[in-house]
Amino acid sequence: MADIITIHSGNALKGHCHVPGDKSISHRAVMFAAIADGRSRVRGFLDGGDCRSTIHVMRGLGVEVDQRSATDVIIHGMGLDGFQEPKDVLDCGNSGTTIRLLTGLLSGQKFVSVLNGSEQIRRRPMGRVADPLRKMGAQIYGRQDGKLAPLTIVPSKLRSMEYTLPVASAQVKSCILLAGLYAGGLTIVHEPGPARDHTERMLQAMGAPIQVLGRTVHSERPEEPLKPLDITVPGDISSAAFLLVAASITPDSSITIQDVGINATRTGIVDALSEMGANIRYRNEGEAAGEPLANLVVETAQMRGATFGGERIVTMIDELPILAVAATQAEGRTIVRDAQELRVKETDRIATTVSELRKMGARIQATEDGFIVDGPTPLYGATVDSHDDHRLAMALAVAGLIAKGGTTIHNAHVTADSFPGFEATLRALGAVVQESGEAIERLSN
Ligand code: S3P
Repeated sequence: MADIITIHSGNALKGHCHVPGDKSISHRAVMFAAIADGRSRVRGFLDGGDCRSTIHVMRGLGVEVDQRSATDVIIHGMGLDGFQEPKDVLDCGNSGTTIRLLTGLLSGQKFVSVLNGSEQIRRRPMGRVADPLRKMGAQIYGRQDGKLAPLTIVPSKLRSMEYTLPVASAQVKSCILLAGLYAGGLTIVHEPGPARDHTERMLQAMGAPIQVLGRTVHSERPEEPLKPLDITVPGDISSAAFLLVAASITPDSSITIQDVGINATRTGIVDALSEMGANIRYRNEGEAAGEPLANLVVETAQMRGATFGGERIVTMIDELPILAVAATQAEGRTIVRDAQELRVKETDRIATTVSELRKMGARIQATEDGFIVDGPTPLYGATVDSHDDHRLAMALAVAGLIAKGGTTIHNAHVTADSFPGFEATLRALGAVVQESGEAIERLSN
């Protein structure tokens, strides 16, 4: 992976493409297959840095994972109680989903485990998973009052609980539901907003007693072993979002992104862009891995500013940096509010999105819980930095497609955390993308 990429504007984007498998579903498929009985096969797996971390951790727990090709993975499930005591610290790399879901899964095991990750992960809040798990009887120790990784999990008997999530977070919800599989009694989780529901769908398909009643989810220990998976992961709408905006703002563009997951807890970005005037259509709707999917057809459009806030924010939380790029080209003011969760993502995405887009001439200002963008504004090529945040790197690359002069992005190798092949995909659609700098292979775990 090149560490520096330079994007040049000028070319329309045309043609058909795919995006890699959904990150959230790929993580879950490997983790849940590991606690099923028997052999699972996952095709369309996202072979990106974050999901590789999940495979690495599963192997550390004694699970045999055979990556036959980058995207075709066989997992030999060990059953609910089959994990082996890890011989070393479990390294979750940069992956928040890995460490947070695993904290729930490991709380009910009969051995001590230590979860750690990159410097970035060690800064991200873990109290949001450790605190509710402690209410279930889990013994979890960490830095700064148990709120930061590394997290040490000591065996304990879990009891069920009823819990209302303080923030709409799929990672926290999933963590508690997984712990609920190991607790005596019925665990009940109430969620304040429509956080992604891949955990519920997949565990139900595997035969786990997960019940969804509106915004309330129940979990309890299964009486029967979990059934293994045989699935093809749909394309990641969070990755497709970069291409949706790229084609919407690059003149004369028309592209089709094939087989993208369109789960309603994830399509907030499609609704938001459409509200801003984008021309996006679903074609050939179908289903894969118990998830709805479609081809997304998008053409250049004149966009207008809009205001986004409230509970819909959770359905597009990862897409807000790229929404900011779209807003720079929209007529009028775009306001994003109620998005304070952005401050605890891979970076403080309010601060980093604002500071980097400003270098390109965007009229964007940070607020406590979001940002305000005035448009349309001509963007200018500049030297910008990803701050080691994959979604920021890709948002800046898309901004570069319409900027005057070259846009050079440093620390660009992180695009492969969630979208390996991002640069090649843009190039195949007609963009001019140069890669330089030291080749980085940071995804080795
Ligand atoms: C994810 C949930 C979201 C999202 C992250 C992936 C998941 O995080 O931002 O990229 O796979 O459950 P939160 O649950 O913290 O909102």
